[in-house]
Amino acid sequence: MRFFYLMMFLPVVAAAQSYPPGIFEDTAHAPFVYGVASGDPTAQSVIIWTKVRPSEDTILVWQVSTDSLFTKIVQEGSIIATSISDYCVQHDVQGLQTNTTYYYRFATEKKKFSVVGIAKTLPIGDVKHIKLAAVSCSSIWAGHFNAYRRIAERGDVDFVIHLGDYVYDYPDRKQLNRMPSEYPKDCASLTDWRERHTYYLLDADLRKLRQQKTWITIWDNHDTDVEEPGKTEEAIQAFYEYLPIRMPDIAHPENIYRKFSIGNLADLIMIDMLLFRGKEEYAPGKKSVLGLKQDEWLKTELQNSTATWRLIGNQEMMTDWLSSPTIKKLTGQGDGRVMDPGNWSGYPEDRQRLYDLIEMKKINNVVVLTGDVHMSFVMDMTGTPRNRERYNRKTGEGAIGVELTTPSISRVNMRDAGIPGGFIPAVQDISNRLNPHHVWTHFTEHGYLTLDVTPERCIAEFWYVPINKVTSEQKFKRGYVVKSGVNHWERDYNTKPLPVNSKN
Ligand SMILES: [Fe+2]
Repeated sequence: MRFFYLMMFLPVVAAAQSYPPGIFEDTAHAPFVYGVASGDPTAQSVIIWTKVRPSEDTILVWQVSTDSLFTKIVQEGSIIATSISDYCVQHDVQGLQTNTTYYYRFATEKKKFSVVGIAKTLPIGDVKHIKLAAVSCSSIWAGHFNAYRRIAERGDVDFVIHLGDYVYDYPDRKQLNRMPSEYPKDCASLTDWRERHTYYLLDADLRKLRQQKTWITIWDNHDTDVEEPGKTEEAIQAFYEYLPIRMPDIAHPENIYRKFSIGNLADLIMIDMLLFRGKEEYAPGKKSVLGLKQDEWLKTELQNSTATWRLIGNQEMMTDWLSSPTIKKLTGQGDGRVMDPGNWSGYPEDRQRLYDLIEMKKINNVVVLTGDVHMSFVMDMTGTPRNRERYNRKTGEGAIGVELTTPSISRVNMRDAGIPGGFIPAVQDISNRLNPHHVWTHFTEHGYLTLDVTPERCIAEFWYVPINKVTSEQKFKRGYVVKSGVNHWERDYNTKPLPVNSKN
């Protein structure tokens, strides 16, 4: 979230290099010291990833098995790790069974093995249930990645959706819960971006979640550094090297938007506003959020989708977040009218075109999953939140869909930003009154959310996890439900969590 930048500057202090707690190589599996990962599942395929400690070109064997002891290997092959991709390798394993859990590993010619990863394919046909965990904004300097470890331990989470700011291009100089003693520099080259991704993989909790779950990821501004022209291309290259993503458009790597079909239950549509917002006009003087090509693609996907649910993975808040001069005074954020003119609220007319399409075409069951804001929001989507004739704030009637934002894994929220604790409830209270479609908000915790999807309903749960120490603590905060065909959150959902299966 850009607003907090102003509040984050402190003088740089240098000291001797050392790693903070939890930051180390997985030396037991050398040269695969950065672990393994899987991503971008389809019904028949999944991408597997690893990186070897930089050396000479290395021939690796990959194996995929239906059992963790590799007595039932279903596929294997070889691949070379080279300096061209910074000794990262990815293989798109094809011809797999749908809705199946696989085990995978890599080995050198000298029979040194990586840790065993778990990868999952998507179901097809009549799908009764899926559970996603949504995360975003993971600054390795701001705090410990305990939340990643908690998700890795959950057997009930099928896939992880990372909504961006997976890495941070620069350190948080005010949020120093976990800094190496020497400040890392702001990323300014391909080498810097590769070093940044590599440093992140020294975090054992991040490695664990990459190992245990199959990820679907998009970038946000800190992964791509769009504020600094000329750096984006190199950042994008490193992102694709280090994350297991099936590049949707090889000729145009900047086009990361893509769709995942989860049988007849849900379409998961991952969009990217970051690289496109405000660059093209859909009419003279009217700026587009997504760019014309992606805009058309999204609208086609929404109209053609025959699944029960349309889940949209979205970087920055879509729903209106109106601010006020008082909030600006208390927090230093926003322009006194909206909290972030850089998100969809800065493009209200283009957003309304999307809302109009959803309403006119009677597209039901749109659930937007959003990152960036670092705090928890449960919101009804409506273009007229303050018009009592068109939207009922007490019941939610009149809304055309729903949105959720996930709290950050570690990056600064309103409390970390140094806003006096006494102000935060006041800010939250004013914000909630200005925004009657914000069904529930919470501005001070870190963690993740889960989305449990069945044909009848989606249940969202907020899980909060400390960041200032290594801990196994987590607390369930709230749950909300949206029922199929209803298009707004239920106000009085019983807030007990769904059973947590910890089979991992
Ligand atoms: Fe962020």
